[in-house]
Amino acid sequence: MSDAAAARVRPLFSAEEIAARVTDLARDISASEPKGLLVVIVLKGGFVFGADLVRELAKENVRLEIEFISLSSYGSGRKTSGEVRVVRDIEVEVAGRDVLIVDDVLDSGLTLKFARDLMNARGARRAAIAVMIDKPEGRRAKIEADYVGFTCPNYFVVGYGMDAAHAWRELPYVGVVETAPERAG
Ligand code: IMP
Ligand code: MG
Repeated sequence: MSDAAAARVRPLFSAEEIAARVTDLARDISASEPKGLLVVIVLKGGFVFGADLVRELAKENVRLEIEFISLSSYGSGRKTSGEVRVVRDIEVEVAGRDVLIVDDVLDSGLTLKFARDLMNARGARRAAIAVMIDKPEGRRAKIEADYVGFTCPNYFVVGYGMDAAHAWRELPYVGVVETAPERAG
């Protein structure tokens, strides 16, 4: 609370820039002619991007179903430990379907590699990945997203669903937290 209150967010990608990218991504996804599309939104961070993306897909007349999955890396800090587990699973069959996994950030790639492997293990016809932010410098798993909003350096970004210590998810833009100088002690 005090950390967030003392911090400011420097905008990196505006709401307008993001909206234009989401429209482009929906057109690209539509052009891939998905069959029986199941959009799997990764909570919590994917909720804003997912909500915008499905509405853009609707404008492209893409028929789809929406499910949510909640995944967690062990450890609670900014560094992920490497182990991923399912906290809340989707509730439908995946076999034979085109799945689009939607998340906020692709960083180490451990979370989305786990998610994609899970969908493939369940028999998805194709499991594609869409992320708003790709941070290639952080990659530890061999994985790339099929649809990327913006590529950015190894900043810790917030807003548009993304949080730092549970704050900032509600911002309509993506930015970088500029932390106030630490207090002593
Ligand atoms: P991974 O390292 O690719 O497995 O990413 C794990 C999760 O860490 C992502 O789904 C995000 O929720 C979170 N994450 C990674 N980088 C950032 C960031 O810069 N801001 C906010 N969350 C992040
Ligand atoms: Mg996440």
